[in-house]
Amino acid sequence: MAANETAEPILLEDRRGAVVEITLNRPKVLNALSFALLRALADALGRAAADEGVRAVILTGAGRAFAAGADIQELADMTAAGFIASDVFRAWDEVAAFPKPLIAAVNGYALGGGCELAMSCDIIVASQEARFGQPEIFLGLIPGAGGTQRLPRAVGKYLASELVLTGRQLTAAEGERFGLVNRVVPPALVMDAAREIADRIAAQSPLAVRQAKAALRAVYETPLAQGLELERQRFYALFGSEDQREGTRAFLEKRAAVWKGR
Ligand code: CAA
Repeated sequence: MAANETAEPILLEDRRGAVVEITLNRPKVLNALSFALLRALADALGRAAADEGVRAVILTGAGRAFAAGADIQELADMTAAGFIASDVFRAWDEVAAFPKPLIAAVNGYALGGGCELAMSCDIIVASQEARFGQPEIFLGLIPGAGGTQRLPRAVGKYLASELVLTGRQLTAAEGERFGLVNRVVPPALVMDAAREIADRIAAQSPLAVRQAKAALRAVYETPLAQGLELERQRFYALFGSEDQREGTRAFLEKRAAVWKGR
């Protein structure tokens, strides 16, 4: 535990119906993503993935930041060999592989690893005061958790190049304009906005939601023809499920569907 931390847990988990809310809780250091915090996050997501009752997860930060990046205190002493031997960044892969919808409620700074963490989510809701950026260049570094790959895919090559090469931050409004943010709301409404989206997702068939997320994720990992084939397989796979029968029947009978998740 860092000297400036109390016994307060570094990660808070709260269950609200079918939605788990996870809060990064190192506010004194702007929720810097220490290796322990990353591990705790990946473990919490692992539990949420295994729990059939969980339909979506919201990720946010305590205090005035979502996360101001990797913990620079820890990075200062790291070596390439140390990274390889400890494999601490495996936790990033686990976060990105989380199979259920993950919504970032970005309440403040999302910089470096914090921006990369938001981009590992499926939907990003931001406070008007949120700031996004990849300032690693100021540390003599480059993004190490997907920033050079996910940022251009979100905002395009030219803006991403500027952000990574100059360290400039984007406001939430710019983020929305350039496709990095789904919606911008006043600071006090960030969690409400994220909850509204999470609840809408949680009301859908979990089978269809899971297949949809998997198919969407493939966009960035496969050429178009292969992606279309994968989508079709996942589409076909839903036929014959009780939820597919129920969903189509409920529409035709003009009533709300009752999902069973099978
Ligand atoms: N790691 C460790 N500590 C951090 C931190 C980080 N990433 N970001 C902020 N802190 C600490 C500060 O050191 C400070 O601690 P003290 O009170 O003990 O001095 C505290 O949090 C508050 O921060 P500031 O006083 O700096 O607050 P500010 O409002 O003046 O500035 C800020 C806010 C612009 C976000 C500034 O804190 C900052 O630039 N932080 C670093 C951002 C950064 O470089 N992130 C990239 C990290 S590398 C990375 O993420 C690699 C990767 O790809 C995974």
